[in-house]
Amino acid sequence: MTDEIGLFDAIHSARALRRLKPDPVPDQVIGRILDAAIRAPSAGNAQNWAFVVVRDAQLRRGLGAIYRKASDIASAMYQARGRPAHMSEEQYRRFMSSGAYLWNHMGDAPVLLLPCLRDRPPPPRETLPDAMQAIYERELAYTDRIRGASIYPAVQNIILACRALGLGTLITTNHIRCEEEVKALLGIPDDVSTYALMPIGYPRGKFGPVARRPLAEVAHADRWGASWPG
Ligand SMILES: Cc1cc2nc3c(=O)[nH]c(=O)nc-3n(C[C@H](O)[C@H](O)[C@H](O)COP(=O)(O)O)c2cc1C
Repeated sequence: MTDEIGLFDAIHSARALRRLKPDPVPDQVIGRILDAAIRAPSAGNAQNWAFVVVRDAQLRRGLGAIYRKASDIASAMYQARGRPAHMSEEQYRRFMSSGAYLWNHMGDAPVLLLPCLRDRPPPPRETLPDAMQAIYERELAYTDRIRGASIYPAVQNIILACRALGLGTLITTNHIRCEEEVKALLGIPDDVSTYALMPIGYPRGKFGPVARRPLAEVAHADRWGASWPG
């Protein structure tokens, strides 16, 4: 295990790492990563999350096959959408080739982690005051809109904890296109949904820092359209 690095170093170097060694990751290390995950916020502090840690080789192969199948759909969508304006041809080629590598190697990672959420249905309409009943549909839409926000902060903690411990990972969501098969394979209950499939392992080869569009393009000072000066 490598020495831990500082938070900002982790933020600036936590690339989406898809090429991972098959060497096992000790359960104790995974335990530290999960402990970081559950420090994340969740709406109403509900903590209605669950984390399925798949180490069994046969189950990993099964998940790999489902990811491969789902990726055929992703591939068609990517081709139709084309290269984002901020990426050069070369950056886009490298991104696509890294993504395609994972289509065929998801099951080779020593650990596959699935962050999940158990449904948290809102109170039934008839239990609410009239004024709330009148806006019930809007409230349902709101609940729907923020659902993922109760698990993706935990996913980011996992990404940073992995980086701090010298492990590679990334968030992937392609499998959700075939989620029923994933749930059947792992015995995940009906009222639980998976939000990510994260391969975890020691990284192969070198990787550069995280590069992003500049702040001046994406940050607004006080009002939309006034570029952040920093
Ligand atoms: C919501 C979400 C879904 C993603 N799904 C996938 C996926 O299914 N497969 C994959 O290879 N990468 C997936 N990624 C990873 C992104 O491609 C990656 O974070 C992005 O290209 C930035 O990579 P970088 O940090 O190495 O620059 C996903 C990222 C996010 C935020």
